[in-house]
Amino acid sequence: MERTYLMVKPDGVERGLIGEMVGRLERKGLKLVGAKLMKVTPEQAARHYAEHHGKDFYVRLIAFITSGPVFAMVWEGDQAVGAARQLIGKTNGLEAAPGTIRGDFALHTNYNLIHGSDSHDNAEREIGIFFSEHELVSYDKAI
Ligand code: CMP
Repeated sequence: MERTYLMVKPDGVERGLIGEMVGRLERKGLKLVGAKLMKVTPEQAARHYAEHHGKDFYVRLIAFITSGPVFAMVWEGDQAVGAARQLIGKTNGLEAAPGTIRGDFALHTNYNLIHGSDSHDNAEREIGIFFSEHELVSYDKAI
């Protein structure tokens, strides 16, 4: 079992696509174990996007991700990182395959609706930036 961090970005929230994206992830069989609507702080944004520090799009990226509410989520399942990235599609919406979230709804690289962790280690790191363990549920213990 693996966990991954997914975040509907401000453009996805603004366009009313939270339900669409959550529905696709649920139908795939992934389990939602944590979720909240929140504003990303500049400190969280800098930690989250540390690997992009210094790149030409970094300043724009930080400004965008802190510009409005995001829907932060933790999903769990077999190979959850790879499964979620398949559903999300390539970074550039124009290159993302039809049938993926970005392929169906995004035209841009900057405004690409949703973030998904790219590795198991980054998933755990990113979950730690946005969630406390007590905010996450365990289905094993439920009922
Ligand atoms: P995300 O999955 O959130 O990870 C980094 C983000 O930087 C990426 O999605 C894009 O929205 C954004 N970005 C902007 N320009 C680029 C670029 N040239 N290459 C990769 N990511 C970019």
